[in-house]
Amino acid sequence: MRLNDRVSLEAQADGSIAARFDGYASGLGKFNAVTARRAQDLRLGMALASFSSKSSAVQSEVALLVQRLADRGLIEYRVAQASGTADKVIIEPQRPDYWPRLPKLGTSETVVLSRFAYLRRRGNDLILESPRSGALFRICDPKVAAALVVLARPQKIGRFLRENSFPGKALLALLLDCEILFKVDAGSSGLRPDEGDNDLVLWDFHDLLFHTRTTEGRQANPLGGVYPYAGLIAPLAGVRPSWPGSAIDLRQFIPSSHPKPLSVQLLDQRRSTRDFDDQRPVTVVELSRFLDSVARVRSTWKTETDFGDDGPEVEYTARPYPAAGSAYELELYLSVANCAGLARGFYHYDAAEHALVPVSVRAPEFQAMLAAAEFAMDAHAPPQVLITFAARFGRVSWKYSSIAYSLILKDVGVLIQTMYIVAADMGLGGCAIGTSNIDLFAKITGISFHVEGPVGQFALGRGSSEESKPPA
Ligand SMILES: Cc1cc2nc3c(=O)[nH]c(=O)nc-3n(C[C@H](O)[C@H](O)[C@H](O)COP(=O)(O)O)c2cc1C
Repeated sequence: MRLNDRVSLEAQADGSIAARFDGYASGLGKFNAVTARRAQDLRLGMALASFSSKSSAVQSEVALLVQRLADRGLIEYRVAQASGTADKVIIEPQRPDYWPRLPKLGTSETVVLSRFAYLRRRGNDLILESPRSGALFRICDPKVAAALVVLARPQKIGRFLRENSFPGKALLALLLDCEILFKVDAGSSGLRPDEGDNDLVLWDFHDLLFHTRTTEGRQANPLGGVYPYAGLIAPLAGVRPSWPGSAIDLRQFIPSSHPKPLSVQLLDQRRSTRDFDDQRPVTVVELSRFLDSVARVRSTWKTETDFGDDGPEVEYTARPYPAAGSAYELELYLSVANCAGLARGFYHYDAAEHALVPVSVRAPEFQAMLAAAEFAMDAHAPPQVLITFAARFGRVSWKYSSIAYSLILKDVGVLIQTMYIVAADMGLGGCAIGTSNIDLFAKITGISFHVEGPVGQFALGRGSSEESKPPA
């Protein structure tokens, strides 16, 4: 293992060590002077095996320092035939908790590439990655890339290693650990139904990739408003330049005397509220009315599928907002920070029963969720109630191929606007939030990221007096 190229370590006189990268400094804690000197070896690299025994105090301290660097995604792992020889592969962690593991792999076992794995060019490197994987693999040796072609069909390990110049069983084990490879029974085709549970079978390749690359938690790329091309490309105009030709002016058709319809009044009133009045929090009575208005199940029914007589019956619901295929896959989870009449905590909204069901959550994870929302809104405090929309992905992908995830995101937009309008009508404040951490949600709920996970968020509360002023 070694430090990323872009990271340097700085030791202070008081023993504290900080990692400096991309203009940021991240404190790693206080260590003794010997550890600080040994830490500089990380620039060239240290053997992973040296961390397995923590016999001396210095070794334990170095292991702690390395773990803290790894948690921040600042370490990479080099796979080579021997020290000093050329790199075969470099592993870049994509999740903070990635640590290389070598699961047991017998020569008589059979493995095959995951259908979610793919190769692509990044700069001048060739990258092997997968939305299921906790790390990506930078391929430095063409023989590894060539051997991947062979792994597109199930391969018995012993024979594969004999017939291909692949650098060792350890690399196969690392790929297996990252779910880039998976084990299959001898003679199995290793096709879609063989990989993972039914929930995974329902995912199309591009949908799972899109989900993991457009959310936080399972990738180490910078994301959000980072203006990556601001120095190269001018911003596009706020309003599209008009098409040539004579325009029909619609302003002449707007009646001036009639009162505006309620819907238009609400649309005019609606705006994003990011700071809330914590002296006058939203009440549980208001929260109940809000959830009843936006998301409560109105009715349920069953119907036959439309592809033939022997298809199963499917259960449907009616709810206040429209949803693709009437699937209503979005579940609401509430992180309640400050609501009069309701204990602070994490809840699932049971939309059929119109009830809040507490879900036990550890304090650091609960706070991390609220802190991320505060950060996303550049607010001064966490929202009073943070509503996370978690999609039951299979509810949509069971029917729709290729467009499933895009339909889910469209449903998110519909629900966001419904929440904005109801909040405006009730005199409450709200704000959509564009990012969510899918790994954090999985940790809180214990539900795998591909089964049910966050696709949108909405902050709700009583706006501060500044925020409650009508728009200028
Ligand atoms: C899909 C979506 C994502 C958004 N994400 C964020 C966000 O992460 N942080 C934030 O402060 N505002 C967010 N907003 C709010 C927009 O910034 C806001 O709607 C826009 O500036 C227009 O202002 P208005 O809502 O007050 O009319 C989001 C809005 C939408 C619809």
